[in-house]
Parts: sequence; structure tokens; C-alpha cells
Amino acid sequence: MPSTFLSSPIGKKMGMALTGLILYGFLVGHLLGNLLLLKDDGGRSFNAYSDFLINHPLLIPAEIFLVVVFALHLFLAISVTRDNRRARPVGYQTTQSVGGRSFASHTMIYSGVVILVFLVLHLKTFKYGDKPSGLYDLVLATFQQTGYLIWYAVAMLVLGFHLWHAFHSAFQTLSIRSDKIKSLGLVLCLVLALGFGFLPVYVGVLK
Ligand code: HEM
Repeated sequence: MPSTFLSSPIGKKMGMALTGLILYGFLVGHLLGNLLLLKDDGGRSFNAYSDFLINHPLLIPAEIFLVVVFALHLFLAISVTRDNRRARPVGYQTTQSVGGRSFASHTMIYSGVVILVFLVLHLKTFKYGDKPSGLYDLVLATFQQTGYLIWYAVAMLVLGFHLWHAFHSAFQTLSIRSDKIKSLGLVLCLVLALGFGFLPVYVGVLK
């Protein structure tokens, strides 16, 4: 039974690993699409890309899939954190790890909460924001505000930290351990955090 498997400790870890890797895939695609912001054509390519996605018949199924994967990842994260706290009744007064858990793994739930807050605000701003003169102009106006720039920089730092630990931890859960995976995780988290962090600065300040 999938629900029984998902409620076992290894099932929860596997579920987190698989959903996390799917979300990783989304981020790579999202960054590639957003690179069109770098094109010097007044936002024509970026708006055309956005129109293409909005009118694509697979957009709604893809969004539903993404929401389900994200919700599952969140639900399992809360459940694993609860299990870990129950296994360590003294709570969080000490940073000593139990069962070999590292500082990064202790803080995953906190970095995850920051990402969740980021995502809610991000969707409110861009996906559901008013765009009378197109998405590109909305992105431009948003990143011309210093407060947004600072918030994006902080959020991308936290995202990079979350992704760094997440990548090799996910492969460890899937019993794939290698230095190459660790290095790939580091490169990917740097590319994603620096890429997503650079775009607002480029659009809002350098352009
Ligand atoms: C430079 C950084 C980023 C920019 C410029 C950006 C831009 C955008 C824009 C313009 C949209 C709306 C697309 C549309 O309605 O057509 C969007 C949607 C979205 N963004 Fe971002 N984004 C950035 C970073 C991120 C990050 C770091 C995450 C995740 C942690 C993220 C997750 C999402 C999600 C889940 C959607 C909704 C996708 C959908 O439902 O189709 N974005 N983003």
C-alpha cells in the first residue's frame, strides 16, 4: 500500500527525496526560461515565452502536478521533523546531532519555511499580479524596488543552502553515494542560487 509505505520512516525519506528532485527539475527549467530576461529586446522574447506557456494545453496539468508534488514534499517535511523531535525529547537547546544529523539537516525545515514564504509572495506578485502592459514590465517594475531586491537576495541565499543539502541527501536516501554527486549538487545549487539572485539585480539595477 503506497500510503503505508509513505508513513514509514524510509518511505517518508524516499518521498521527500523524489519530490525534492522533481522540484529541482522545475527550478532548472524555470531559471532557463527566466534567462530570456537577459535578452536586449525590450522584453519581447520573455513575454512571448510567457504567452506560449499560458496558452499551452499542458500548463494546467503541469501546475496541478507541481502543486501536488510540492504539497507532498511539505507534508513529509513536517512529518519527518516531528519524528526527529520525538526521537530527541530534549528539544533544540543543543546543536549536538543525534544519529549523525548535521547542522544543515537540522535547519532544512527553517530554510524550507523561508522558501514557502518566498513562494507565496512570488506567486502573488508575478502569477496573480496585475500586468496591464505585459509580464516583462511587471518584472521590471518589481525589481526596481530596493526592498524586493534585498528580499530576493536573502531568499536566494537560503534557497541555495536548502538545495545544497537537499541534493546529496536525496541521493543518499536513494542509496547513491559518491563524491561526483556531492560536487554536482554544489555546482547546481550555486548555479541556481546565483542565477536566480543575479536576474533581479540585472533587471532592476544594471539594465
Ligand atoms: C530571478 C528570480 C525569479 C524570477 C524573475 C521569476 C519569475 C517568475 C514569473 C514572471 C512567474 C510568472 C509566470 C507566468 O505567470 O507566466 C513565475 C512563476 C513561478 N515561479 Fe518564479 N521567478 C524567480 C524565481 C523563482 C524561484 C526561486 C522559485 C522557487 C523557489 C520560483 C517558483 C515559481 C513558481 C512555482 C511559479 C508558478 C509557475 C506556474 O504555475 O506556472 N520562482 N516566476
